[in-house]
Amino acid sequence: MLTRPPVSGVTIWWGDTQIQARPGDSVAVALLAAGVNTTRTTATSGAPRGPYCMMGACFECLAEVDGVANVQTCMTEVRDGMHVRCQKGAPSLARPAG
Ligand code: FES
Repeated sequence: MLTRPPVSGVTIWWGDTQIQARPGDSVAVALLAAGVNTTRTTATSGAPRGPYCMMGACFECLAEVDGVANVQTCMTEVRDGMHVRCQKGAPSLARPAG
């Protein structure tokens, strides 16, 4: 059985839930390691989607990161305090405040 060594260093948020990640992890890796496998729902049917290729090719891992929609979580490195949310359907065209 594979186990992950204890994690320390980076805390990200998945909605209201804190997730511990290793420095250098992608957001997708941190989410999958924490048991999160749905990062978005489709715009047409609302079907769940999540990381698949882990190399930036499939776009299944899109999520909202720090208020920015359509972020490829497999290509984005974790940063302490990062806020990640499930992207539900089509993203809004509105720009985040700030
Ligand atoms: S998992 Fe395929 S683009 Fe991120």
